[in-house]
Amino acid sequence: MKRILLIDVSPRGNDSASRSVASTLAARLSDLYPLAEITHRDLAAAHPPHLDESTLRAISTRDPAEEERWKDAARLADQLTDELVASDLLVIATPMWNFGIPSALKAWIDLVVRPGKTFRYGEGGVVGLMQGKQAILVLASGGVFTAGPWKSWDFVEPYLRQILGFIGIVDVQTVRVEGMNIPALANDAVPVANKAVEALVL
Ligand SMILES: Cc1cc2nc3c(=O)[nH]c(=O)nc-3n(C[C@H](O)[C@H](O)[C@H](O)COP(=O)(O)O)c2cc1C
Repeated sequence: MKRILLIDVSPRGNDSASRSVASTLAARLSDLYPLAEITHRDLAAAHPPHLDESTLRAISTRDPAEEERWKDAARLADQLTDELVASDLLVIATPMWNFGIPSALKAWIDLVVRPGKTFRYGEGGVVGLMQGKQAILVLASGGVFTAGPWKSWDFVEPYLRQILGFIGIVDVQTVRVEGMNIPALANDAVPVANKAVEALVL
């Protein structure tokens, strides 16, 4: 049975291009894997907190007494991390904001990229512990970043691939919903991305 973790980030509800394409993808996954368990984590509905002192202490300590003391603060970080660890396939559907990822997604990353849980320090360097998982990125943007003069302004896909690789997830496919703010492209962006979903290797 496949266990799928679907992360939605856009706060634009039914107007969101990334959510729309992610739901097409979820429907295809449900067809392919009728027994799949899909966990939906909506970061816009409930923003994960930025790392504050208690959460940082809670997730950093290796002292059992300290762990006990900070366990309330660690609860959400542990829950989010457990969801990731339990999944076979991670789907991240996110807008580009100011050429990078929204801070809610960064906050989620800060809570789940954790030594001893999703990566560890080995003798030869860092070892990602999430090896063997697949990821699919659904990336919506107002402009076009796969080619052309704005390509080098894209800090979404390179960053997400880098951080996922850091924790061991190297099988990463991307679906772009681009040109949402370009009148000549906007109407076709979601249908083109929905077609790209059909071409994904799942
Ligand atoms: C706060 C904000 C910042 C944005 N920054 C960018 C940007 O840097 N580059 C870009 O191409 N589009 C940018 N956009 C446009 C969004 O990426 C575009 O509307 C996309 O469709 C959003 O995804 P969604 O439809 O899933 O919400 C921005 C939109 C917002 C609201």
